[in-house]
Amino acid sequence: MTRTIYIPGDSGALALGADKVAKAMAAELQVRGIEATIVRNGSRGAYFLEPMVEVETDAGRIAYGPVRPSDVASLFAADFLSGAAHPKRLGRPEDLPFLARQTRLTFARCGITDPLSLADYEAHGGLAGLRKALAVAPLDVVKTVTESGLRGRGGAGFPTGIKWQTVHDAKAANKYIVCNADEGDSGTFADRMIMEGDPFVLIEGMAIAGIAVGATKGYVYIRSEYPHAVSVMRRAIEIAREAGMLGWNVLGSPNMFDMEVRVGAGAYVCGEETSLLNSLEGKRGVVRAKPPLPALQGLFGKPTVVNNVISLASVPVILDKGPAFYRDFGLGRSRGTIPIQIAGNVKYGGLFEAAFGMTLGEIVNDIGGGTASGRPVKAVQVGGPLGAYFPPSMFDTPFDYEAFAAKDGLIGHAGITVFDDTADMLKQARFAMEFCAIESCGKCTPCRIGSQRGVETIDKIASGIQPEKNLALVTDLCNTMKFGSLCALGGFTPYPVMSAINHFPQDFAPRPVAEAAE
Ligand SMILES: Cc1cc2nc3c(=O)[nH]c(=O)nc-3n(C[C@H](O)[C@H](O)[C@H](O)COP(=O)(O)O)c2cc1C
Ligand code: SF4
Repeated sequence: MTRTIYIPGDSGALALGADKVAKAMAAELQVRGIEATIVRNGSRGAYFLEPMVEVETDAGRIAYGPVRPSDVASLFAADFLSGAAHPKRLGRPEDLPFLARQTRLTFARCGITDPLSLADYEAHGGLAGLRKALAVAPLDVVKTVTESGLRGRGGAGFPTGIKWQTVHDAKAANKYIVCNADEGDSGTFADRMIMEGDPFVLIEGMAIAGIAVGATKGYVYIRSEYPHAVSVMRRAIEIAREAGMLGWNVLGSPNMFDMEVRVGAGAYVCGEETSLLNSLEGKRGVVRAKPPLPALQGLFGKPTVVNNVISLASVPVILDKGPAFYRDFGLGRSRGTIPIQIAGNVKYGGLFEAAFGMTLGEIVNDIGGGTASGRPVKAVQVGGPLGAYFPPSMFDTPFDYEAFAAKDGLIGHAGITVFDDTADMLKQARFAMEFCAIESCGKCTPCRIGSQRGVETIDKIASGIQPEKNLALVTDLCNTMKFGSLCALGGFTPYPVMSAINHFPQDFAPRPVAEAAE
């Protein structure tokens, strides 16, 4: 029997040596004259176990990891192709606690299938949502998405169905679907993982969106730092086109939908939807004033759905299983599942898809296993560089858009970055201002100038120069930025700054001059 060996081709696994492992495996197979197929799957998201190699045995898949090239000879010697014992043997992947505790709806196939095999995609439930969408009226597709309670996973949590309804109702000769794959938040990688590990689910989600709102063309705007995602998506689009999943007659229907990849040039602000649209049009990535909403006047002035990768990739399962199935997961107005990305100084970093409602403490301590350094957790930044820092005393906060907003925080793209007790929160506050100063598109004064003044004022606090007066000044500045900025870059930078000041006041106390200068 020809065995199949799965070695992730995901960027995270590659960074940890997956290519070297694959090369060593191929060489060992040749030397031993064994016939086996090596599939470069996506990652299952347990990055602390990558490269995690799986082998298809008579008893199902058995995982080994983290595998180093130096482990390969001993794996063969131990007969790992039959799932035999070895110090790196992890057992059935689905039984690993990190994976067993998840509810995988959006990431159901990621790490399991061959990312570029449409047959494998279909064999694992793919295309069922698109088929159902093609069998009903476009408005029913919009209704299904609205009833599912899906909210945008890019950061703002805006109801996806309402956005689609606006574009559906708009009258125009051309409409567009734009997928926001700029994924600039610190500690986030869900978009990248799905594009590299299950690209057809995004293509399917975009095709469904196109059919629902009457758009025939889609663009995936991918950040330039994701070369692997760019090439997998490009290849997957070609395969989908050749198979009739995209093109003039989507799956043999009278509906047309096609799409292409566009690569960004490396600006955080180009993740903001209007800036992204400018960039797609070949203009400078500057934020546009709203109104008009992109849903009415978006790409090239036409009605446009701009959705995050995860929002769109969640649509096929909603269409397939129905809105009630999806809505039944979650808490309050946060329905369905959310792929939480656990990063920073954490023992078990990776992607954990779960229904909304877990507490932050459960995520950090039970799932993430606390810090990698073994030191106490000091703070967790939730929602990327514009998210607030939460101390352990707030770990009872459930993962829910409203619960975080009520505590002056945000879920954003669901990235959480863990810091141990050596973190200096004044430096983190300074970093937030500095990040805003560097990434500001420059269109409005509170953000462009305010962030620069913010850095200078925090530096004065660090140097012990009139600390009380300067703290009051930073607070005042934060209010000006919060209420006076045109977009959330300037408007939300105050969240990390003020949460650092409010929850960790000891770090803003006057300090010895030598320490402040470090
Ligand atoms: C500075 C800034 C950066 C952003 N970066 C991203 C991003 O990388 N990806 C994303 O999907 N949304 C990002 N957003 C949110 C988008 O503007 C927009 O809300 C989102 O793409 C809409 O899709 P959704 O409704 O599916 O979340 C950003 C917003 C701001 C203000
Ligand atoms: S807040 Fe900053 S990034 Fe946003 S429009 Fe104003 S200057 Fe540009």
